[in-house]
Amino acid sequence: MADKKSIMKKDSRKTRQISASSQSKRSSSANKKKRATLTAGTKKAWGGRFKEPTHHLVERFTSSLPFDQRLYHYDIQGSIAHCKTLYRAKVLKQKECQTIIRGLETVLREIEQGHFEFRDEDEDIHMSIERRLTQLIGPLGGKLHTGRSRNDQVALDLRLFVRDSLKAMIAGLTQLQKAMVQKSRIHLHVLMPGYTHLQRAQPVLFAHHFLAYVDMFERDKGRLNDALIRLNVMPLGAGALAGTNYPIDRAYTAELLDFPTVTTNSLDTVSDRDFVVEVLNGCSILMMHLSRLSEELILWSSQEFQFVEMSDSFCTGSSMMPQKKNPDVAELVRGKTGRVYGHLMSILTTLKGLPLSYNRDLQEDKEPLFDTLDTTSDCVSLYAELIARMSIREDSMADAVQSGLLFATELADYLVRKGTPFREAHAIIGSLVGQCAEQKKDLAQITLQELRAHSSHFSKDALSLLTPEGAIQRKSQIGGTARKQVQNRLRTLEKRLL
Ligand code: ARG
Repeated sequence: MADKKSIMKKDSRKTRQISASSQSKRSSSANKKKRATLTAGTKKAWGGRFKEPTHHLVERFTSSLPFDQRLYHYDIQGSIAHCKTLYRAKVLKQKECQTIIRGLETVLREIEQGHFEFRDEDEDIHMSIERRLTQLIGPLGGKLHTGRSRNDQVALDLRLFVRDSLKAMIAGLTQLQKAMVQKSRIHLHVLMPGYTHLQRAQPVLFAHHFLAYVDMFERDKGRLNDALIRLNVMPLGAGALAGTNYPIDRAYTAELLDFPTVTTNSLDTVSDRDFVVEVLNGCSILMMHLSRLSEELILWSSQEFQFVEMSDSFCTGSSMMPQKKNPDVAELVRGKTGRVYGHLMSILTTLKGLPLSYNRDLQEDKEPLFDTLDTTSDCVSLYAELIARMSIREDSMADAVQSGLLFATELADYLVRKGTPFREAHAIIGSLVGQCAEQKKDLAQITLQELRAHSSHFSKDALSLLTPEGAIQRKSQIGGTARKQVQNRLRTLEKRLL
């Protein structure tokens, strides 16, 4: 049980000075209440060990309040569950439990309506809420922290926050996949050159190219979901590091907060930030995919490619050159990828030298985590809209896919079918292509006679290979760009996503 002494210990240095000078004059209960308010409201409560107040620079340096404020909702949600658990363990009386919960609900309302005063000296969101609760309901507010430390409290708040953020991110990725699937369906007939080394290589369906990204995003969702499963364990009850002296039912707290299970080692519980690393890793890979897509769309919207046209609403102009229409959103997504990678490095570096268990360094987990989640989810939502509004220049893609060089592999495979070893066929077509280049001739315009000059295995049917449609139709294994395969994949995705 939280005894009076431990509650009184939560007196603050600054406040103690105020209280000591005026204490003797106050005896009425109204005065007592006012004193409690002052005690909790003036300065954070570290107890009697300290003889000097915190230096103002230290106060500012150590405070996480400017960035952990956003955890308020989860902090209150966790505190309500903890309060109910304390009542169930008979640490709190029913009346006390009710008063604390009502107080917490008032604090929540105040924050949401913008009336809450965040004070610099509060140090973090946990202290801030407890300070206000104690102002509202008196010393009883100090009983809420019984059997709990900010170390397991912050571990809980962060898990609750990340859990919701990841669910939203996964839903956002599904929206982006839908936009890409819909574009693929609309332009299913369109062929374009597929590239290796950014050189035209073989014809592919535009839909095949786009659906490659849908597969990437599917893996990204899988990674985020894995992180979600692993972080979904309830940390309260670990206390500062060793566990708690109070007979609380941790499984009950877990049930209240919708966790399938509880953590199994108190030391690990308060110092584990693996889940933050996993989330930043998942987001980094996702950003890498978005950055590759950005690079591609930036190229594709250039005068040189003209494969796509981005909506005016997603581009900006130049302040000097009137003709410019710049793909800034795609460029910024590519740019922000570096920032997210940086956050991943930052959390890994923060964690690498830490002995068990909680160390204040861990407070440095929040800014990289929050910024990563904000940045990544913004990029994902923007991309869903950008894709939906982007037009595909079917004419330019069709022109580009006519280039005969794209059929060289088809001719080599033709000779293989006639019994020529592949390496030999490769060399024959290589010299044919070289000759075309010398004569500035397109391979698609080649005659049967010219083909036969290179190999007597060529007959009339070889000429029918020199069409883009023929080239894609023969890539008919699962995962190939043949129309039937792409259609099958599209149908599966549509069933799953739309
Ligand atoms: N603001 C702290 C953090 O984010 C909360 C935990 C502080 N615990 C402590 N013992 N100082 O990590």
